[in-house]
Amino acid sequence: GKEYESIHATIVGDGTVGLVTLDRPKALNALSHALMVEVVDALQAFDASPKIGAIVITGKGKAFAAGADIKEMKDKTFVDAYASRFVHHWNAVTAIRKPIIAAVNGYALGGGCELAMMCDIIIAGERAQFGQPELNLGTIPGIGGTQRLIREVGKSRAMEMVLTGKHFMGAQEAAQRGLACRVVPGEDEALVAEAISLAKEISKQSKPVVALAKESVNTAYEIGLTEGVRREQVLFYATFGLQDQKEGMSAFVEKRSPEFKDK
Ligand code: HXC
Repeated sequence: GKEYESIHATIVGDGTVGLVTLDRPKALNALSHALMVEVVDALQAFDASPKIGAIVITGKGKAFAAGADIKEMKDKTFVDAYASRFVHHWNAVTAIRKPIIAAVNGYALGGGCELAMMCDIIIAGERAQFGQPELNLGTIPGIGGTQRLIREVGKSRAMEMVLTGKHFMGAQEAAQRGLACRVVPGEDEALVAEAISLAKEISKQSKPVVALAKESVNTAYEIGLTEGVRREQVLFYATFGLQDQKEGMSAFVEKRSPEFKDK
């Protein structure tokens, strides 16, 4: 893969999984502008790479990411922040069509928690700590924290976390509430291995069907039920235009494993 300053981007899982590792351990992987430019670049490259079916993102050291880089943003004026929209480019993460699994190994705070929530699946390591401490800094979450957290953990718990800036959420609670799909005990290597194995499993599915399914599930975040179900049906009908749908259904009837080939 390409060389970056603050992250590593490697291809794993027999060539079918892209792995992004945040690697600024001295700053607990604080998400500087440069680091997020690299993350978006790596995700877009994996998204465009035909053999890759899913992506894993994790952090090196004791943090997944301790938030946006406080040292970098502290002196910004309102006009600087508003005119340059300095975190707007993070939204590119949500435009990636392949599934992204966040393997949250430690602190996921502020922008780190928000980055994890922009991913499609969170798997928590046993030391994962989710939090939105922005109010301690005299600011508020800025890239979805006030919007996505409430959908995951409910209003009271989201309000408690956001309004106090404390009361972080550990791995077990995150899994109980559905913020994470499960907790992987043990070392970070085990967590990343589990995330890669899940990504590999997804990579075996039809790539266009996975993209359609991700788009359809994410629609639930954006709009109401009636409109969501209507859009789901359009995407469902669209799968009947794919060779992979013919292959998948024929394989079932013929009692064999499907071999998906559509790009
Ligand atoms: C810049 C950071 C940082 C951050 C940690 N560091 N978090 N630098 N931005 N977000 C740096 C510290 O300054 C320190 O550098 C080094 O990393 C190690 O951190 P310590 O605080 O010494 O570690 P520890 O005592 O273990 O405490 C861990 C911690 C604490 C609880 C995670 O670092 C912390 O509270 N960090 C800030 C968390 C936060 O408020 N995040 C939200 C940011 S605002 P030196 O040079 O001293 O060794 C945000 C807004 C998002 O994310 C909005 C849009 C994206």
